[in-house]
Amino acid sequence: MPLVSMRQILDEAAKGGYGVGAFNVNNMEQIQAIMEAARETKSPVIIQASRGARAYAQDRYLYHLMLAAVELYPEIPIAMHQDHGNSPQTCISAIDMGFTSVMMDGSLMEDGKTPSTFEYNVRVTREVVEYAHARGVTVEGEIGTLGGIEDGHGAGGTGLEHLTDPEQAAEFVKLTGVDALAIAIGTSHGAYKFSKKPTGETLKMDRLIEIHKRIPDVHLVMHGSSSVPKELQDVINQYGGKLKPTWGVPIEEIQLGIKNGVRKINVDTDNRLAMTGAIRKVLFEQPEKFDPRDYLKPAREAMKKVVAERMVQFGQAGHAGDYEPIPLSEMAKRYRQ
Ligand code: G3H
Ligand code: 13P
Ligand code: ZN
Repeated sequence: MPLVSMRQILDEAAKGGYGVGAFNVNNMEQIQAIMEAARETKSPVIIQASRGARAYAQDRYLYHLMLAAVELYPEIPIAMHQDHGNSPQTCISAIDMGFTSVMMDGSLMEDGKTPSTFEYNVRVTREVVEYAHARGVTVEGEIGTLGGIEDGHGAGGTGLEHLTDPEQAAEFVKLTGVDALAIAIGTSHGAYKFSKKPTGETLKMDRLIEIHKRIPDVHLVMHGSSSVPKELQDVINQYGGKLKPTWGVPIEEIQLGIKNGVRKINVDTDNRLAMTGAIRKVLFEQPEKFDPRDYLKPAREAMKKVVAERMVQFGQAGHAGDYEPIPLSEMAKRYRQ
């Protein structure tokens, strides 16, 4: 099966009432972990690469890893997505390289930190929508900004400073024509999201429900949605790591989101924690080891386990065979109409 548009994956998820995890990749082991989890659980999948990932792996390596996934897992619908494109140029280069979906994150300026104006956001997102839709490629936009700057994306703070306004979200979708919309409801990127289990005061699920009521046909996206499980933190700390106590987004809140229009759930940190814990364990327990395969194999296995768990929890498991891919040329035709 060729790469499919993210739009098709999300449309199908909406029909089936489930969510789809979007997992970040930077290297071969991470792509392998995701694809093995997808095969095991029979899940459609969204693989995403940040600008940092593209710089780290180099575009051509990533491109060929993506082709390998398509070739080796023909039964799995795969969308390849640019995570947090910081400018039209970043998104256009991803589309030209063969990505089937891009996020134009115009909620922040090009530096990925400074909140932008509504007008700027509409202008850059619209520009990307025109380029992408002409080629059948999906576009995710963002309105409101996440908290934290731990991994270089976000406006800092707690995430409550720039929550998404439902009216503005509706206006944004109308003016830009985006296929999916990332919203800010109090989450942040990285491991340090909440200093205790989130409540309605810190994680604004009521806001999400309001947004969904206002724009019921729009696919919503939850960023910063790692759950940061205590077990994964414990492994790291048990083997010499120094993570401070922290809380992520509980799975049951994500599931509530899925009941209320969330179709894409971004998860990176949980996989980072799983891999690092597994690597620490090997190096701590067997300090004589020096073959990278001795720790990368358990790391890949640990990530696969987390991804497979999320695929079941989000409901995408079992849906890989539900549909035939719509070619991007056909998607482009539909956008023209
Ligand atoms: O958006 C954040 C993702 O976790 C990607 O992070 O920019 O460090 O690759 P990154
Ligand atoms: P986490 O840091 O919670 O995994 O979020 C990842 C993300 O939103 C990528 O865009
Ligand atoms: Zn994000």
